[in-house]
Amino acid sequence: MSSESHRVIAIDGPAASGKSSVARELALRLGFAYVNSGAMYRAVTWHVLQKGVDPNDTEANNQSRILIDGVDPTEHLRDDGVNNSVSQVSSVPQVRRVLVEKMHHYAEENDLVMEGRDIGSVVFPDTPYKFYIDASPEVRLRRRAAEGLRDEIAARDRADSNRRASPLIIAEDALVIDSSNLTIDGVVGEIVGRLKMTGMQIPSA
Ligand code: C5P
Repeated sequence: MSSESHRVIAIDGPAASGKSSVARELALRLGFAYVNSGAMYRAVTWHVLQKGVDPNDTEANNQSRILIDGVDPTEHLRDDGVNNSVSQVSSVPQVRRVLVEKMHHYAEENDLVMEGRDIGSVVFPDTPYKFYIDASPEVRLRRRAAEGLRDEIAARDRADSNRRASPLIIAEDALVIDSSNLTIDGVVGEIVGRLKMTGMQIPSA
């Protein structure tokens, strides 16, 4: 059982599906806090690499602390090294346990829009607000390239979908939105429409 006391809107999906832009925009629109759980896994990965720990060394990763030692890793979260190792680090159950606890704490403080891979399926399985944003592989590759980032998204998706701990799946009760031919506003509009149907009060745009 999850322990949320505020509303949580779960936005899951594969890499470069557009979920970050959508989640950020939606949070602004609703006045909810925005949490990028991928950034949390990236921050831990960056820290692991900084310490010179082999990301494949599950044993060592278990012991890795998520304190970032007073250093703000934000500018490094999309480094090639982080892209290449984040799926490996994220597959360690102990890493997930620590971060999921933090995510639950956030929900004790605020209404949230939280994006990730397992937010609707594992982190907040009881939330009635679950969305899965997808896009074709071609569109996703194009989006990443347009950001000027080298990122093996296919490899990351494969690893994230096939891992044992909280793999990327579509939660049974999630609304799937294919963003391939939609703008960010278009996707946000679809989500807002669905939220209104549940009776949620939405501030006017
Ligand atoms: O969302 P983003 O692509 O930045 O996530 C980076 C990586 O973090 C993912 O490829 C995945 O390995 C991991 N992740 C995860 N669970 C989440 C969010 C991200 O395992 N809820």
